Amino acid sequence: MPDLLTQAQLIEIVKAAHPPRPKLARPIVIIGAGGIVRSAHLPAYAKAGFPVIGIADPAPGKAAALAAEFDVPFSFTNTEEAVAFAPAEAVFDIAVPASQLLNILPLLPVGAVVLMQKPMGETIEEARAIRDLCRARKFTAAVNFSLRYSPNNLAAVELYKHGCLGELSDMEVQTRTYTPWQLWSFLATAPRLEILYHSIHYLDLVRSWFGNPRGVYCKTVRNPQTPQLAPTRSAIVLDYGDAKRVFIATNHSHDFGDRYQRSFAEWEGTGGAARITLGLNLDYPKGKQDTLEYAQRGDAEKIWHALPVSGENFPDAFIGTMGALQAFAEGSAATLPSHFEDAFQTMALVEACYRSSENGGEALTLE
Ligand SMILES: NC(=O)c1ccc[n+]([C@@H]2O[C@H](COP(=O)([O-])OP(=O)(O)OC[C@H]3O[C@@H](n4cnc5c(N)ncnc54)[C@H](O)[C@@H]3O)[C@@H](O)[C@H]2O)c1
Repeated sequence: MPDLLTQAQLIEIVKAAHPPRPKLARPIVIIGAGGIVRSAHLPAYAKAGFPVIGIADPAPGKAAALAAEFDVPFSFTNTEEAVAFAPAEAVFDIAVPASQLLNILPLLPVGAVVLMQKPMGETIEEARAIRDLCRARKFTAAVNFSLRYSPNNLAAVELYKHGCLGELSDMEVQTRTYTPWQLWSFLATAPRLEILYHSIHYLDLVRSWFGNPRGVYCKTVRNPQTPQLAPTRSAIVLDYGDAKRVFIATNHSHDFGDRYQRSFAEWEGTGGAARITLGLNLDYPKGKQDTLEYAQRGDAEKIWHALPVSGENFPDAFIGTMGALQAFAEGSAATLPSHFEDAFQTMALVEACYRSSENGGEALTLE
């Protein structure tokens, strides 16, 4: 049994968790001036010192109002103008409904550096078309899978890298909360909702820890309170063989106060267990505090250490997604974890979940 780590040693380990950053920040041009740009993109870039030089949105007055609020010097009412204005080294940061990506990407110059919001299209066919377009136009492009860069997940990764979790055998993500879907008018008619727009973060997070599963078992269902919406509750089991249990369970219709609301990811391994709370989901988009706790196997007192986390999902995770892209584009980072080629695989996993849900489970033999 290894010596038990002290609280001070654990704090030293998680202190090493930092989002990736470029040596030289590039100017950013944002396409889309909606809720996520206001609550996360712009606050993150201001905090990181990433300069935003323009915002475009066709909705009258929207880009101009947001530009004024965040001291962004230029605003535009269409993407073409923003592209014509952008200097050669600009990063295009696209945050629009997924259905719009294939209208915007062809307008960007060959060789552009691009960050696009998740999901990468609304279906696997759209994801494939986006991937092929990114390849053909030689984009250096990533998808904004921000949960990977949430400070508490980065700290949990540090624990894992230091061997504190040992060999992993278990990961679960559970969210039981009330999500105000009406914040996104485009979701009112979206044929796919919970997995495509929310659990996609968890599927991507699981892939970042375990790689691709062999397969997936899934059921996603509607909420009787919002029968007009596509399914908003899901249960997903990911198959990593006989020695790992990995699942995601979400219920966004728990409108009974915060007493039993939960949102967390938890890992267990031969060396210990870690748990992060996903505070954002518990009062979206304001959020509650993100946390990280760790318990070491062999500790007779069974202590869960509360460890410091250097920020919140909104906005800090967005420093990581933009920082990783820029570091890769300038050559100071060798890899780009959320590269569109990798993001396509997360989209393939989303598609497999919907297929599994439609195909149904194993029927009972009752005789
Ligand atoms: N990574 C995350 O954690 C996270 C969180 C929330 C939302 N998102 C994603 O961000 C995207 C936008 O979400 P939101 O909450 O800002 O939605 P929103 O509805 O508040 O805003 C979308 C904006 O896009 C604009 N738009 C639509 N078509 C456009 C076009 N062709 N060109 C330019 N602008 C266009 C709309 O006018 C609107 O202002 C969605 O795809 C969503 O999945 C990601």
